[in-house]
Amino acid sequence: MLSRCLRAGAALLLAGCLSARQADQVAGAEKERNAQQQKKDPNQKEKASADLADLMGGPRLDQAAVERGRKIFIPTCGFCHGNDAHGKSGPDLVRSALVLHDNKGDTIGPVIRNGRSDRGMPAFSSLSTEQIADISTFLHSRAADVSNRFTYKIGDLITGDPRKGAKFFNGAGHCDSCHSPSGDLAHIATKYEPVELQRRMLYPAPNLIDLYLGKQVKPPAPSKVTVHQASGEEVSGTLDHIDEFTVALHDASGWYRSFSRENAKVDIHDPRAAHEALLPKYTDDAMHNVLAYLETLK
Ligand code: HEC
Ligand code: HEC
Repeated sequence: MLSRCLRAGAALLLAGCLSARQADQVAGAEKERNAQQQKKDPNQKEKASADLADLMGGPRLDQAAVERGRKIFIPTCGFCHGNDAHGKSGPDLVRSALVLHDNKGDTIGPVIRNGRSDRGMPAFSSLSTEQIADISTFLHSRAADVSNRFTYKIGDLITGDPRKGAKFFNGAGHCDSCHSPSGDLAHIATKYEPVELQRRMLYPAPNLIDLYLGKQVKPPAPSKVTVHQASGEEVSGTLDHIDEFTVALHDASGWYRSFSRENAKVDIHDPRAAHEALLPKYTDDAMHNVLAYLETLK
């Protein structure tokens, strides 16, 4: 059905392919899931986002716009990007740098309107500026949800047991395979307030709200890349640049190399992927214990 819809070529074609009832069902299922999550304490999540925004001195998201954006996004974009925007056949938009830097549709608008038809992203030329701004707000709310997942515990953030946290760090959490308390994480607790330390530990990316405010942020760790060339040669290194046509990297000895993407297969490895995989695995206890342990690294 999807390919038939795509061939139809009309803008907003996918919305047309889902009946209004199906779209409502999808939206309904999502709502139900959210309701389950919030059952413990209703309004908690929204309140937490607002608290966090206040703490960081950032703007609050307009909840009505989030809802409007969700209603457009799920039936129109959810097929490919996932109803939660975390990606399916299309890329994860919650972690997209393009989305992160977007303000009311200024960077994502052109991609949505023009599409990237050669790469599987259709054009949605009939979406209005307001609708795109609402989608943008919805996507920002998804990013905020991810980084706020535990922050409603702001009040009793450091209630964990640091010794158990250390055990988790060097054991089940495998944190020690990438970090060292006397190396890269030395004095980490003096660098960040607990809420920011927790955020970075859960989701080590530039703070969305800081980016919004145009504050100076620590640049994210660079991605590793491997280029498999048609000749069979493989080259790995640190990613410098990638676009539709070329990929550039510097290898272990510091040499800068660039390749045409034609006939080459490119594997990008985000060094923070381990954190992404950890997020759903943390129990509240483990999370509190590790944070308590990190807080001892003064
Ligand atoms: C038929 C599948 C499909 C649908 C439907 C779709 N997309 Fe995409 N989208 C893609 C693919 C595939 C890419 C990656 C294109 C590329 O590699 O450059 C993409 C890329 C994007 C990007 C760029 C991300 C980045 O980091 O560069 C944005 C933003 C985006 N889509 C938003 C949307 C929105 C909003 C909608 C709904 C209005 C939508 N897409 C509907 C498949 C889809
Ligand atoms: C596979 C490697 C890997 C594993 C495993 C890993 N991390 Fe990380 N971690 C990273 C990378 C990469 C960053 C991003 C560093 C950056 O952007 O500067 C990071 C960032 C962090 C930060 C923020 C540091 C800063 O200065 O902003 C903390 C805190 C952290 N990780 C804690 C943990 C804990 C706790 C665990 C185990 C539960 C863990 N990490 C497991 C790779 C890893």
